[in-house]
Amino acid sequence: MKPASGLRLAVVGKGGVGKSFIAGTLARLLAADGRKVVVLDSDPVAGAAVSMGMGVVTDSMLADAAFESPNGWRLHPGMGAATIIKSRSAVGPDGVRLLQSGKADVGGMSGTWPSIRAFGQVTRRLASDGVLGDWDVIGDLPAGPRHAAFNWAPYADTYLVVTTAGSMSLVTARRMIRLARQRGAEVLVVASRVESHSDTSAVAGWLDLPVFMSIPTDDAVREAEAGGLAPFDVAMDGPALQQVRALADRLVPSRKVNS
Ligand SMILES: Nc1ncnc2c1ncn2[C@@H]1O[C@H](COP(=O)(O)OP(=O)(O)OP(=O)(O)O)[C@@H](O)[C@H]1O
Ligand SMILES: [Mg+2]
Repeated sequence: MKPASGLRLAVVGKGGVGKSFIAGTLARLLAADGRKVVVLDSDPVAGAAVSMGMGVVTDSMLADAAFESPNGWRLHPGMGAATIIKSRSAVGPDGVRLLQSGKADVGGMSGTWPSIRAFGQVTRRLASDGVLGDWDVIGDLPAGPRHAAFNWAPYADTYLVVTTAGSMSLVTARRMIRLARQRGAEVLVVASRVESHSDTSAVAGWLDLPVFMSIPTDDAVREAEAGGLAPFDVAMDGPALQQVRALADRLVPSRKVNS
């Protein structure tokens, strides 16, 4: 199978460290370059859609895409990963796409179960079928190591392990790094919500790894998202956005030439 030329990322880390902001903003930046980008959001709580400026998207996009067979859940015939991503995802600014498993509602997660099972099938097929190789696929995973442990991002060849300098965040990051390595994925550490240079040094020292990118705390990010706006649209000149842009440049070096 030909290796993908597009990104295959899983964005992971402890709750609230900035995963969705980074995943969503990276997606917007790459889509603005004209790249084909999909964010795969398996979080039962709203996240990347808000960061991308698409508001709170609650649809279970894949509720009728799979069925339960005696051998487990299957996608309906004719529904491969590429077809589903192209036909079922929500389209945002610059053509960026969002495919989500489904969000919890007043009834909890039970109503979204078929969609979640179909979403799992899509992620596995994406990994095994080699489709959409030229697309950037960015997985915004829910907080903590559980989803990575259960391999919710089998397509990912690179894990962006996002952490603040807080001790619990670093403990989670360490676990995520072990899991990613067990999967044979490359690990890139992103220090997030950094207040000073010493925060970045603390992350590097504690994890004994270089920090691939350091994203400062930027109140404009929180304010934008609290107001339902994408930081990409309203805080582009701020320090956090500059660093996410630098992250995009490092992940896709040709981007620099083209933009
Ligand atoms: N660099 C930053 N500066 C300031 N605020 C930030 C920054 N990054 C994220 N935030 C804010 O922190 C909060 C959590 O961010 P985000 O939702 O991206 O984290 P998360 O890791 O995806 O959380 P969860 O685990 O709940 O999905 C949001 O209010 C967001 O606007
Ligand atoms: Mg999130």
